Amino acid sequence: MTPKPKFLVICGDLLEAFPETEPKLREKQEKDFKNVFSALDIPLLCVCGNHDIGNTPTEDTIATYRSSFGDDYFSFWCGGVYFIVINSQFYENDSKVKQLSAEHETWLEQQLEYVKREQPKHSIVLQHIPWFQNNPDEPKNPWNFEKDIRTVMLKKYYDAGIRHIYCGHYHRNGGGFYKDMELVVTAAVEVNVQNDGTTPSNDHGYRVVKVLDNKLEHSYYELGTAPSSISWN
Ligand SMILES: *[C@@H]1O[C@H](CO)[C@@H](O)[C@H](O)[C@H]1NC(C)=O
Ligand SMILES: [Zn+2]
Repeated sequence: MTPKPKFLVICGDLLEAFPETEPKLREKQEKDFKNVFSALDIPLLCVCGNHDIGNTPTEDTIATYRSSFGDDYFSFWCGGVYFIVINSQFYENDSKVKQLSAEHETWLEQQLEYVKREQPKHSIVLQHIPWFQNNPDEPKNPWNFEKDIRTVMLKKYYDAGIRHIYCGHYHRNGGGFYKDMELVVTAAVEVNVQNDGTTPSNDHGYRVVKVLDNKLEHSYYELGTAPSSISWN
């Protein structure tokens, strides 16, 4: 692709096998993953998903993740844009990792304060599980968060100046708005499903995001259909 993307993000579930129940298979998948991506000539950003540390993460699964893939949450600047990568499992079920979850929360509060103070051109959060799929008022389903935590977090993000959230987990494309903050859900490059959630779908692909001074533009491409040349107008 020309120009080359600044980086590639996998929005969580780097591997399929769960660490607690399928550790041997997971080790093999990790080898394959690193083998495949070692050929990449741009940075790869790994976001931590439920398959990576378990639906109920433990100190062990998080420690293993960190030794295999690095930090499970972090932030960075790129081209005047500030990125915050959270570990959304702490909001899903932190019953076995209360201390780590509290550290994550303190860190996130500091990140949002930083965004408020620095007012970057764009501030973008990357996370695995989306707060919602299509509408901030939608009911709870297996793929989003309970309304109480969802509302608190969306307001926190918004008040800090976040206007873009990119997520995975849903195995379908989705997205919507909270005020003028856009949440984008991107389908998987592996198994996807139709809207009924059960019928397989073959639209394996990825999203190309263009970061312009005053907005972000993004399109989903099925494998093999993305343009090899990206224009700026
Ligand atoms: C969190 O995980 C624990 C242990 O698996 C489980 O007992 C509990 O019901 C879960 N909590 C929620 C809110 O799902
Ligand atoms: Zn997931």
